[in-house]
Amino acid sequence: MYTECNQFFYFIKLNFFLFVLICLIIYYHFFTMDYALSTEEYNTAIKHRIINVATKKISDDSYLNKIKCQFSDSYVTIANIFKNYQYYIDDENEIVVKGWIQSSRKQSNNIFIQLYDGSHANNLQIIFDTNLILDAITNLYTGTTIMVTGKIVTSPAQGQPFEMVGQQINIIGSISDPATYLPCVKGIKLENLRDKAHIRPKFQSMRAIYRIRNYVIQGLHQFFKLHNCFQLDPNVVTTSDCEGAGEVFTITTQFNDLKSNNLTVDFSKDFFNKQAFLTVSSQLQLEALCAGMAKVYTVNPSFRAEPSQTNRHVACFTHVEWELAFIDLKQLLDFNEDVVSYVIAYVLDNAMEDLTVLDKFVSKGIINKLKSTLDEPFIRITYTDALHILNEHIDDLQKKYPEFKMPEWGDDLGSNCERYLSDVIYKKPVLVYNYPRILKSFYMKQNDDEPRTVQSCDLLIPGVGEVIGSSVREDNYDKLISVMKDKLMKTEPLQWYLDLRKDATFPHGGAGLGMDRLVAYCTFMEGSIRDVIPFPVAYEFCNY
Ligand code: 4AD
Ligand code: MG
Repeated sequence: MYTECNQFFYFIKLNFFLFVLICLIIYYHFFTMDYALSTEEYNTAIKHRIINVATKKISDDSYLNKIKCQFSDSYVTIANIFKNYQYYIDDENEIVVKGWIQSSRKQSNNIFIQLYDGSHANNLQIIFDTNLILDAITNLYTGTTIMVTGKIVTSPAQGQPFEMVGQQINIIGSISDPATYLPCVKGIKLENLRDKAHIRPKFQSMRAIYRIRNYVIQGLHQFFKLHNCFQLDPNVVTTSDCEGAGEVFTITTQFNDLKSNNLTVDFSKDFFNKQAFLTVSSQLQLEALCAGMAKVYTVNPSFRAEPSQTNRHVACFTHVEWELAFIDLKQLLDFNEDVVSYVIAYVLDNAMEDLTVLDKFVSKGIINKLKSTLDEPFIRITYTDALHILNEHIDDLQKKYPEFKMPEWGDDLGSNCERYLSDVIYKKPVLVYNYPRILKSFYMKQNDDEPRTVQSCDLLIPGVGEVIGSSVREDNYDKLISVMKDKLMKTEPLQWYLDLRKDATFPHGGAGLGMDRLVAYCTFMEGSIRDVIPFPVAYEFCNY
């Protein structure tokens, strides 16, 4: 009896202990911890392709709780209505919407307006009794800016759960000549809008592309998300002197070949007392920051004067670059793959309506393509193995590209081979690593076991080609100087960079991601990056 009693109390005690333990775990997990994913959780999530957006819990003593936000919209956004329509339906209060007319049609005594305001992939359908808006009726052309007051009701039509019954309409901006106003052109091709970039947001597919561009970069800019802003960067190369004061820097490539014509420019008399350029990459400066901050990144524009008209080259692109201390080649490859997988998952999580618009109108199959990109790990292959595999397909390559010449070891793979690897052979992203040393930049770390190669990695993605260029950096001072000498580079201007290896050197590596190319992958099956950049500038192409 005594033993049984003892066992019983023991059992109760144990259960009580377990209960308290579980309560503590739940308490700590949900009430005290950050909601940001830990590295371990993130790794597990990304390996299993279950990506959750980590949102940080704002603690009670946060300064964010102390500020009083003053700004509020003067209208309800269409995104808000789509998200919360259950709350708006049959609410006795009228709401105000503002935006632009996508289309309008008259049917018996009603006028149906499709309205967009940029916030959502879909339009808001508004129905008016024609008698209510007799004054405005003749001016409701596609593109007109309007403000509408009305109520949200359950829609009798199939395929849409709600619509707005309009009570009042105000024309904010009318169309002077509806017959020639560009947004009236139905089915216009995106490429025909390239030199009319100021008018592109008036097209549904372009708006979807711009929002996806925003989602691609949003992970890096959570701050802006909290303020409901869309990030769209106008180019810093321009043809206009906005302020009209003439204090502009002229950009030209004409000085580049002055020497070959025995001409010189005295740059010591110039603004900086020396020749200065628009950056092609922020990497070297990032490396200096990395030498104390360990993990750094930038979303700078980079500028390249490549006289290239391809669909993946522009003169100014958004260059997401990162630099990480204490990593090796394997970690660099992992990081490159994770960044791209995360962005694609983020876009799928956040922009499904926009992807659906693109899937319907301009990029059939885009959703499946993005989903399948996350299904399996990316291919990882050395440059040398890539050449072997390409050689096995030489007949097909020659058939596909009439002028084709198979690269030899040490040659650049070239865009045809790159595309063939990712588009035809693997049909998925391919990380090509260990490129020949002679092919790559001076800063890449030499492989000890195969000194002809460097610890570099390019990520090739189907339909686009190279989207990431990366490497482990040479951290040995003497080796770096010797490579620079081999490549006939002057060491003096880069002494500050070399100094980072002279003392307190450390292993590190990093990458540059062509963000516009990744946006193109997330929006098109095949397409030009010029169609995903708000104001593109490219070779012989600068219109704003
Ligand atoms: O491969 P790249 O030249 O690498 C670098 O600039 C390194 N310094 C980056 C680093 O390690 N921090 O350029 C990186 C990426 C390319 O893979 C490509 O996606 C993109 O930048 N890129 C361009 N995108 C659009 N137009 C151009 N003209 C581009 N040139 C490069
Ligand atoms: Mg490259």
